[in-house]
Amino acid sequence: MFTSRKLCILLSFTFFLFFTGVLAQIQMPQRTMEVIEGQKVVLQAWYSTSSLTVKNTVLWNFVANNTQLIISYTPDSISFGSPQFGERVGFTATMPSTNLSLYINNTQESDSGRYLCQVIIPGAMGLTGELSLNVNVPPAVPECSLSGKPVLKGNVTLSCKSKSGKPIPMYKWKKTSPPSEVFFSPMLNEKTGTLKLSNLSSSMSGKYVCTASNTAGNDSCYINLEVITCTY
Ligand SMILES: *[C@@H]1O[C@H](CO)[C@@H](O)[C@H](O)[C@H]1NC(C)=O
Ligand SMILES: *[C@@H]1O[C@H](CO)[C@@H](O)[C@H](O)[C@H]1NC(C)=O
Ligand SMILES: *[C@@H]1O[C@H](CO)[C@@H](O)[C@H](O)[C@H]1NC(C)=O
Ligand SMILES: *[C@@H]1O[C@H](CO)[C@@H](O)[C@H](O)[C@H]1NC(C)=O
Repeated sequence: MFTSRKLCILLSFTFFLFFTGVLAQIQMPQRTMEVIEGQKVVLQAWYSTSSLTVKNTVLWNFVANNTQLIISYTPDSISFGSPQFGERVGFTATMPSTNLSLYINNTQESDSGRYLCQVIIPGAMGLTGELSLNVNVPPAVPECSLSGKPVLKGNVTLSCKSKSGKPIPMYKWKKTSPPSEVFFSPMLNEKTGTLKLSNLSSSMSGKYVCTASNTAGNDSCYINLEVITCTY
């Protein structure tokens, strides 16, 4: 009897909070976002309120190694924080608005991290919302190289390396005609970018193309292998 009454009181209190909007959160349709470096991204956020938005303060913070203010709206003025974001950011809506969406132009890899949006409402509980952004980077143009002596029955290793990329690029080697061929493990190491060619024959001469790729893009380099068939 006592427990159910207690529960009833608790429930009505919860309903009261819901109806008065005290439990309202900032709405964010996407909690995690991915973008390719250089592109523009919109961090979507909005809320509903019964009070006048004109009196509310809006803050966007970037949380990485430390917390830095990106942009803020205080009644009648917008100010910019961290120089990391400089002139690349802004509210998508004309403030004051219940749409708090933030755009970031020309995204940088260092923009990856958590973004915290807060609304401070005079005389009421504040609201917060959080999302995380991951900025991916296409692989840099890889460099192709050859080690070993390209002689008949000899072995060579073709190497391919891209200096940057996020996520870490994976590699594929293929020989373009004549005749074309695609390589797999164990000859190919997709992680290190090496292709081991053993017991060379003259038909293995040709153009070998390496492609470094990740979710953000790909780029290639090539090397011409000429198997030396006669020695002087
Ligand atoms: C961001 O880029 C858009 C075009 O995509 C441009 O209209 C806007 O002025 C830019 N914002 C800033 C703050 O540079
Ligand atoms: C808020 O603005 C963003 C960007 O302009 C838009 O995509 C979104 O639909 C808007 N949300 C609402 C609830 O109007
Ligand atoms: C965070 O710290 C690491 C190592 O100290 C550094 O490489 C990275 O650039 C920092 N990130 C930001 C966003 O400042
Ligand atoms: C080439 O590699 C094979 C194994 O793949 C090895 O048995 C052979 O001895 C190597 N030949 C030379 C010349 O290094």
